[in-house]
Amino acid sequence: MASLTVRQLDEKLKQRLRLRAARNGRSVEDEVRAILRSAAADAESFAGISEPAPAAAEEGEPARKATRRVLLIIGGGIAAYKSLDLIRRLQDRGAQVRCVLTRAAQHFVTPLAAGALAGERAYTDLFDPQSEFDVGHIRLARDADLIVVAPATADLIAKMAGGHADDLAAAVLLATNKPILIAPAMNPRMWAAKATQRNLAQLTADGVRLVGPNDGEMAERGEAGTGRMAEPLEIAAAAAAILHAAGALAGKRVLVTSGPTSEPIDPVRVLANRSSGKQGHAIAAAAAAAGAEVVLVSGPVTLADPPGVTVVHIETARQMLAAVEKALPVDVAIFAAAVADWRPLRMSASKIKKHGQPPTIALTENPDILSTVAHRKSGRPRLVIGFAAETDDVVANAEAKLKKKGCDWILANDVSPATGIMGGDSNTIRLVTAGGVEAWPPQSKDAVARALIERIDAALAGPKK
Ligand code: CTP
Repeated sequence: MASLTVRQLDEKLKQRLRLRAARNGRSVEDEVRAILRSAAADAESFAGISEPAPAAAEEGEPARKATRRVLLIIGGGIAAYKSLDLIRRLQDRGAQVRCVLTRAAQHFVTPLAAGALAGERAYTDLFDPQSEFDVGHIRLARDADLIVVAPATADLIAKMAGGHADDLAAAVLLATNKPILIAPAMNPRMWAAKATQRNLAQLTADGVRLVGPNDGEMAERGEAGTGRMAEPLEIAAAAAAILHAAGALAGKRVLVTSGPTSEPIDPVRVLANRSSGKQGHAIAAAAAAAGAEVVLVSGPVTLADPPGVTVVHIETARQMLAAVEKALPVDVAIFAAAVADWRPLRMSASKIKKHGQPPTIALTENPDILSTVAHRKSGRPRLVIGFAAETDDVVANAEAKLKKKGCDWILANDVSPATGIMGGDSNTIRLVTAGGVEAWPPQSKDAVARALIERIDAALAGPKK
């Protein structure tokens, strides 16, 4: 679809749009959105198409998303180089990062570098000829779940305390009603200055949170004291704590199983499968990023434990079931593990040796963990979600599993070797529920995880599963 920008409209129309936006107290962009929304609603009612009612949202606010969005304002100090690393650390915690650079920041880092790391162009000007809309600061302020200012220089802190709006960073900070976290960085004498301390007291009273500054050496040789910017990992942890408290799944307990199970044949041999655990771990990480308290019960995988998640490492299906039952009660249980269906009936205490004929290994069925939890008479999680790894008749098999296992949703995927899903980084899901089948587009396992968390959030907010 060709893209249309406000700049392409004729002057008369632009003028009318501006007037209308001002009258309604909206940005020009939000005014255009409101016009399109109402035109679409008219067209749909004319054509007899009805849409499910959108979740309640403030007019002009984007719908609540499980992905947390951080607007990182980079101020002009030598510590700005650390803010490039901070972009990555925030992303590691599941946040989507957008950057604003002050004019001074651009002496230390470039908008190109910040934009490349964030995956979206960095913003620099209040009146940006590149921007489609002329009041971008309102949108930047609104679209974020949290604003992080790092480094927060003495000048930026003073501007914030004084309510200035003479550049993009200051205007966004004045226009926002979202939480703000600042990571001050300056020379120890500037930090100790009465004016700076007065401004900080004002900001703290205004509800702005602080991380750092730390003690240590300054960029200038021989200078040391309080004023070093907190490390990117510390800032990301402080940001995650704020987002966590305000996340879509804050206050909810989520259980996730992930990875394969490994069933011992003898002390050196196991019965296992090819599951990498990538999808289950991504779901646990996305749930934690959305503020849930997450327990991840994982079989042997080579992945790192996701941040902010309680991980219980197990090997066998029976250990997985015990760990799952111990983690209950939960609001939501998601079973992404590839549990071995069978285990050797007896584990040989010593290594089986090659004497003549190959041994016959008698197998017995493992407990079905998903089915056990879904059929609980008391303490059943409100939402029980399974996966169906299939190579044939994906939807029909998934529908049969939904019924048999008694779960609420099944995420079905085709794990035939040609799809590359097993062990790969992307996934193509069909969401099977009692209400029908929904085909999701091929996307990364991280994106599947975020989409699932959004669906869970909507389901928990609504009356039906
Ligand atoms: N599952 C489980 N415990 C088992 C087997 C499966 O909790 N012992 C869960 C999986 O985590 C998944 C769902 O059940 O959420 C379906 O797993 P899948 O391997 O697709 O199906 P199976 O039940 O093993 O059936 P089959 O192997 O016959 O396809």
